[in-house]
Amino acid sequence: MFDGNKSISFDNTDQNIHNQISVGNSNFTVTPWEVEGNIDYNKLIEKFGTHAINDEIIKKIEKITGEVHPFLKNRYFFSHRDLDWVLDEYQKGNKFYLYTGRGPSGLVHLGHLMPWLFTKYLQDKFNVKLIFQITDDEKFLFNDNKDLEAINKFTFENVLDIIAIGFDPVKTTIIINTKHINYLYPLSIEIAKRITFSTAKAVFGFSNSSNIGMIGFPPIQSSPCFLPTIIEKKLTPVLIPAAIDQDPYWRITRDVAEKMGYYKPAQIHSKFIPGLINNEKMSSSKPETAIFTIDEPEKIEKKVKDTFTGGQPTVALQRKLGGNADICPVFWYLKYLFDSEGESIERYANCKGGELLCGECKGDLIKKVKPFMSNIQIKREKAKDMIKEYTIDGQDLDV
Ligand code: TYM
Repeated sequence: MFDGNKSISFDNTDQNIHNQISVGNSNFTVTPWEVEGNIDYNKLIEKFGTHAINDEIIKKIEKITGEVHPFLKNRYFFSHRDLDWVLDEYQKGNKFYLYTGRGPSGLVHLGHLMPWLFTKYLQDKFNVKLIFQITDDEKFLFNDNKDLEAINKFTFENVLDIIAIGFDPVKTTIIINTKHINYLYPLSIEIAKRITFSTAKAVFGFSNSSNIGMIGFPPIQSSPCFLPTIIEKKLTPVLIPAAIDQDPYWRITRDVAEKMGYYKPAQIHSKFIPGLINNEKMSSSKPETAIFTIDEPEKIEKKVKDTFTGGQPTVALQRKLGGNADICPVFWYLKYLFDSEGESIERYANCKGGELLCGECKGDLIKKVKPFMSNIQIKREKAKDMIKEYTIDGQDLDV
């Protein structure tokens, strides 16, 4: 669901070339503000014009870093643009910057952590700098029901999560749009001047009733793609790890990049982690679908115990028919975050064969996810004294 804002409509527009996708009988929507339906990721690659992560690119990464992160191996990160080029440049000595971000509309959940954990891995392995943008302006403009004060509080809370991930403070810069717009504004107007309203409507689905702040926002998310070239005073590649919902921003940015004398930003796209309720993505605008970083152990335990699974309604049926791990969020979280490859294969087979009951998988997940989140909570506390080390202006945040 679009975060409470009714001014974007996708159902009656012929400019809606990228957003709503129909495959056979299934429809799904992937935009920066709405992810709905049963997503066919191969179809997204085709529709968005990206490239699948293939064995060749994985070998290239392995050659440089000496290993393959499980998120790549199991194709959680499944698509890219120009990742091969970024790796080639890196090997020639032209280091890239990483760029990722957060729109502080609520608390951080497990889904947000996925691209950030991967970004931290890339920062460590490639020893590169990172720009982390907080689009508090976006969340204000695109939400009818959120005032700036509420968003400021989420900015503070979310920054603690980002610092808790453990990014290198020397190599990481957090930019909060409403506070640090001076670093972005000159670039942003250069970008804005090169994008027509017609393109913005086609890519983002804006309509006559969209507020004009929404229409003007996209170049502000594009700007950090070019900032590294200005900071480094030489053409610098940028690689953006994020889920594929953010892709429309990169499409418009890539369109203007070379005309402005910059490299096109490269991307590595992930899938979405499912929520607890059904197969929809985990979303902070639907708190019942999410495990948040600040959830206490008892809350996590209750959420996991109450979650939907791919199991049968009774033990007898589960033993007889087996479960469906493919649609099970519990299996999913264990596979992508906690199980080794071997453990996951075994779990899948035992679930399908009816030997494993949902209660056992839920128990395993509770055992893993509670200490994982407690560790983040300890680091969040420490992060309160570290904010200045990360912000672009070296200032603390007032809350
Ligand atoms: P936001 O706050 O919606 O999401 C932050 C990051 O989390 C990803 N994400 C998910 N990944 C997996 N499973 C999920 N269920 C899930 N939900 C969200 C998003 O793709 C994103 O990577 N406009 C952006 C903020 C932003 C940004 C950026 C993001 C500014 N610059 C550069 C990525 C890269 C936003 O609102 O993200």
